[in-house]
Amino acid sequence: MTPIQDCIINKNTKSKPLWIMRQAGRYLPEFREIRAKNSDFIKLCLNESLSSEITIQPIKRFNFDAAIIFSDILMLPYGLGQEVKFEKGLGPKLGKLDLDLIENVSKDEFSKKLNSVYKSISNVSSNPICKNKDIIGFVGAPWTILIYMINKMSPKKNLSKEIFNDKIFIRKLLSIIEKFLKIHIENQIKAGASIIQIFDSWAGLLEDNISEFIYEPTLNLVQHVKKLDVPVTCFPRGIKDYKNFCEVVKPDMVNIDYNVDPNKIINEIKIPVQGGLDPKILLTDKENLRIEVIKYLQIFKDHPYVFNLGHGILPETKIDMVEELVKTVRDFK
Ligand code: CP3
Repeated sequence: MTPIQDCIINKNTKSKPLWIMRQAGRYLPEFREIRAKNSDFIKLCLNESLSSEITIQPIKRFNFDAAIIFSDILMLPYGLGQEVKFEKGLGPKLGKLDLDLIENVSKDEFSKKLNSVYKSISNVSSNPICKNKDIIGFVGAPWTILIYMINKMSPKKNLSKEIFNDKIFIRKLLSIIEKFLKIHIENQIKAGASIIQIFDSWAGLLEDNISEFIYEPTLNLVQHVKKLDVPVTCFPRGIKDYKNFCEVVKPDMVNIDYNVDPNKIINEIKIPVQGGLDPKILLTDKENLRIEVIKYLQIFKDHPYVFNLGHGILPETKIDMVEELVKTVRDFK
């Protein structure tokens, strides 16, 4: 059994598997080298040979316990025919959203458009370097995907509040997104994903209708993954009540964000926990990093725990700080 599956299924508390959100990315010089020659991010995600290579870059360097496939949550709107571009410094930019058009996309058409993502998963899972490692497939949660599809850019840059007004439109779009996320999940598992992670990066944006727009659609996805016999991790970043989220949505594991107090959550949550460390700690010094890493390892000593961050690693992170993090986790007894 792979390390994270062992943690989740056997509730193993002895080994603390380790991987890092956004581990295949811009803090790695070998990634930047490939990226410099490939200006179209979506095309790069769809290049199965390069995306497999990028996926295993952090495994080669740090021997992490899991490979997360180099792709993006916004491959979903792309697969539905909405234009998705990444502009330097601006982040994602999406094109016009046409509900009639995306409603009529067929399952085959969608799967064909994303076929190279699935091929990349199967390449990575059959690569000897990934023997006994988890292969993490992922999707964005319906709510987070909806935010990007309607807002057409990161809500960090600008968010028009009118988005929340048309509940009928939201319900319709959420149900289309959910349908295709299920297909995307199924295809990733068929290709060899041993775990699915659901990223709800903008769960914290919603104050009302949390039950209808976050809990229910995410619960539907969680149940879908469980039926396919693969463990599922949820990352409802910024949600106020992780305990309630876990009780309702029932993921197999929950990834906490860096604003969650680990001392509090350990008493509230019975399921395996992943993550928590603030990625900004990696921008400080080694001594401080060791103290913070050990804090999480101590708190979760007798709990099934996967070491990870509380959000993606920052592009300006130095390699030797990641090395120090890996060493601290591996040496902890
Ligand atoms: O290593 C990995 O984690 C695997 C690949 C991965 C990427 N994006 C590659 C990527 C994963 C799991 C994601 C998830 C993702 N993408 C999320 C959820 C997690 C989170 O960070 O909250 C979200 C919201 C996105 C959407 C997205 N993609 C944004 C907002 C941006 C621009 C901002 C940024 O961080 O650059 C991206 C681009 C992106 N996705 C990059 C990478 C490596 C950077 C691309 C570049 O080189 O310019």
